[in-house]
Amino acid sequence: MNVWVVFASKYGSTREVAEAIAAELRGVDEVDLHEASEIDGFDAADAVVLGSAIYAGHWLKPAAALLERHAGELASRPTWLFSVGPIGDPPQPEDAGPEGISEAIESTRARGHRVFAGKLDHASLSRVERLMVRALRAPEGDFRDWDAIRAWARGVGGELSALRAAG
Ligand SMILES: Cc1cc2nc3c(=O)[nH]c(=O)nc-3n(C[C@H](O)[C@H](O)[C@H](O)COP(=O)(O)O)c2cc1C
Repeated sequence: MNVWVVFASKYGSTREVAEAIAAELRGVDEVDLHEASEIDGFDAADAVVLGSAIYAGHWLKPAAALLERHAGELASRPTWLFSVGPIGDPPQPEDAGPEGISEAIESTRARGHRVFAGKLDHASLSRVERLMVRALRAPEGDFRDWDAIRAWARGVGGELSALRAAG
């Protein structure tokens, strides 16, 4: 099976989450890692793990566009979704996915959607972004839980193995 791990990331933290998911799945399947802005459909994929950073309650445009334009393709192959965003300890907003995620899960027939805590580095943000996160009192730091990310990816790998065994 050729599994595509596809991501949208502005400052790189979601890219690293996607890389960790891909590394975990490589033990099970052939895996290709793609940036969402670089692909136009999922024809060549047997299964898809698609994720994005959350900004102001939404997925980044390249990932949101794939969801919108290619939901049918995703629905016809095993698909999992993930979002990276909540900041702090405990991460806030708690388990809040992007707007419209329930509809996206339905239209892609995704087998799961997981929200992972993200990373915030004030120095790399634009002035407007810095003002936004200060207004929200979002603390700086790397809150990504690598054990949780790898465990989720192993779960996806297990489901893929079961699907393959079922033929
Ligand atoms: C301006 C701004 C707005 C954000 N809005 C949200 C949000 O609405 N919900 C959320 O969970 N995280 C939000 N975040 C946190 C980011 O999703 C988090 O920093 C993530 O790790 C960024 O991923 P990236 O490095 O791949 O771009 C926001 C961050 C910034 C800078």
